[in-house]
Amino acid sequence: MDSLVVRPSGPLSGTVRVSGAKNSALKLLAATVLAQGDFVLHNVPRIADVEVMCDLLVSMGIDTRRSGTDLSVHCGSDIVPEAPYELVERMRASIVVLGPLLARFGRARVSMPGGDNFGTRPIDMHLLGLEKMGASFDVHHGYIEASCDRLLGTRVVLEFPSHTATDNLLMAAVLAKGTTIVENAAREPEVADLAAMLNRMGARVSGAGTSTIEVEGVDELTAVEHTTIPDRIEAATWVAAVGIAGGEVTIEAARPDHMDMVIQKMGVMGVRVSPSRSGLWASCSGRLQSTDVATLPYPGIATDYKPLLVTMLAMAEGVGIVTENVFRDNRFAYVAELMRMGADIRTEGHHAVVRGVPRLSGARVKAHDLRAGVALALAGLVAEGETEVQDASHIDRGYDDFAGKLRGLGAEVERRR
Ligand code: UD1
Repeated sequence: MDSLVVRPSGPLSGTVRVSGAKNSALKLLAATVLAQGDFVLHNVPRIADVEVMCDLLVSMGIDTRRSGTDLSVHCGSDIVPEAPYELVERMRASIVVLGPLLARFGRARVSMPGGDNFGTRPIDMHLLGLEKMGASFDVHHGYIEASCDRLLGTRVVLEFPSHTATDNLLMAAVLAKGTTIVENAAREPEVADLAAMLNRMGARVSGAGTSTIEVEGVDELTAVEHTTIPDRIEAATWVAAVGIAGGEVTIEAARPDHMDMVIQKMGVMGVRVSPSRSGLWASCSGRLQSTDVATLPYPGIATDYKPLLVTMLAMAEGVGIVTENVFRDNRFAYVAELMRMGADIRTEGHHAVVRGVPRLSGARVKAHDLRAGVALALAGLVAEGETEVQDASHIDRGYDDFAGKLRGLGAEVERRR
């Protein structure tokens, strides 16, 4: 397994460019199932999760070809509407093909997603919503066997604004007969990006980005070209890096309008962040100040930002209480690793009490998941001695050239095999 080795190297400086959003690109790729023809997606990050989604499309009989950050997708008429265990097991988000496959082919066979490092993540809301639209499901040998006549527009109220359930229902509704209304929908910018591509394909979606989405079904969609929005979580990672290591950095292509809350929170902690012509500018000097953090669905503080914020709090002045409201089980696994670096953190259920310490010390730590891996690497920017983040391949799932970009800002970081 690869490791990322980080040593302290002083304040960061320079410019870093944010790649396309993982959580958008995966859904845009799933949406190519909805129409026959040639798609071109621009600004697609070169990350492992996108590779899994491409493998999934290829396994269904769809061609994908990459050239830099452009991805060409050719979707024909002869598709095998199936997501096999080997791929769903590698990436739970594969479940987003269920809605579009049902909408276009009236049937789908998708492996049941298992658990992952975030604890159990059910898909009941996806299934309930699709059922309301007329789909029926059986589970056989670990696979969801779904079928329907043409889906019918209806009103679906989500129990929680689940991001991927919203995506799945949206992609199902575009080819349904009649009007679908999704209430308590996820408001993430990536949902709005998906809707923008669907509308370009000929769909009639309004309200995406708000909690009520209305979709008037159409009979057919066409293949299009679309540019993925920038990754707000990657952009926040660079702001956090400046908060942790100090310095001054320009974050090109960042969309500050997608990051209001996290910018505000990191601002309270002492990072100066302002919009610039090319994206964002961030600078920080002196010790960070503690604050409390509670994760919430967008536009609240995303759960994906939490490991970054916990690392910042671990070295800030004072005590901060962190509350996880989105994924309530097992989302503090990385805390034990941070404590091995000298952090003073106590967790109780979905809360963590983080008492800032003046200095962390480098250690061998393990990345349990994508965001945790990045947060540990950032801790290494200031921890005395060497920090070795093991299982660094988790980072490749969601960051396009993380180590290279960090090195470009002056950090001492290398990949060790
Ligand atoms: C997406 C993002 C992930 C992010 C998360 C929260 C993708 C590929 N992933 O994950 O990076 O951390 O949003 O912003 O876009 N739930 C149910 N039943 C369901 C669906 C969800 O109970 O049918 C629960 C989950 O267990 C969790 C909460 O709802 O507690 C939020 O999950 P959800 O928004 O669905 O997260 P994902 O879409 O899986």
